[in-house]
Amino acid sequence: RKTAPNAEDIRTRKGSTPLVSLTAYTTPMARLMDDHCDFVLVGDSVGMVLHGLESTLGVTMEMMILHGQAVARGLNSAMMVIDMPFASYEHDPTHAFKNAARLMAETGAGAVKLEGGVEMAETIRFLVKRGIPVMAHIGLTPQSINTLGGYKVQGRDEQAKAVLADAHAVAEAGAFSVVLEKVPQGLADQITAEVAIPTIGIGASAGCDGQILVVDDMVGFFTAFKPKFVKRYAELGPQAEAAIAEYAADVRARTFPADEHVFADQAPSKGPKA
Ligand code: KIV
Ligand code: NA
Repeated sequence: RKTAPNAEDIRTRKGSTPLVSLTAYTTPMARLMDDHCDFVLVGDSVGMVLHGLESTLGVTMEMMILHGQAVARGLNSAMMVIDMPFASYEHDPTHAFKNAARLMAETGAGAVKLEGGVEMAETIRFLVKRGIPVMAHIGLTPQSINTLGGYKVQGRDEQAKAVLADAHAVAEAGAFSVVLEKVPQGLADQITAEVAIPTIGIGASAGCDGQILVVDDMVGFFTAFKPKFVKRYAELGPQAEAAIAEYAADVRARTFPADEHVFADQAPSKGPKA
């Protein structure tokens, strides 16, 4: 993993070519994106995307570690960032440090991501000062869904000032980059212009310093719902279902397995070696 960028490499890409990132939760998906992404996020969206949870609140440290280890096996040239799950960091900086250090030590991730702005600045500073690179995540923060009251755009009208303050707070606290989720375009551009660290947009603006999407959303594997900010680059879910339906029909018609899928009773005779 010597070729992978580190947090400092990502930070210094501010204002340069856009940073490319996706989430990953498994080894094969990580392998597919390793040559194309600057960093890969082991997102706590894994709970909803792969485990059928209704929100990210039920995601545990153990789940993050297991998926982080799987993703690490599939990466060679992309950096790995891992989400801190709900209730693993909010309570106090020391608790956050223990869990962040465990996530990094047990998965090999080069940084952690945590949700929150002004209210998490002290924790971000505490972690960064002790050697843990932190990616911040502001705007729509899904772990706060119960207090936000829904997956709404964050930072319209009078709310803009608070999101801007969050961006400045996490940058000043030492975060090496910040995810802007569901932040209106003009505000996202303003934040990108004002803060010294790369902004990573998801439902934000093409003017951000980078973009991220949930991989299962963009390849069409996760189809329970589609946020407006998702662009479907493929429809793998419907393709997989069609394949499964065809298989089921073949089995019922005894057209699978065919001759080429079964084994003869006698071992095939071995011809002389060329
Ligand atoms: O968990 C996740 O997938 C995320 C991103 C999409 C930013 O936090
Ligand atoms: Na997340």
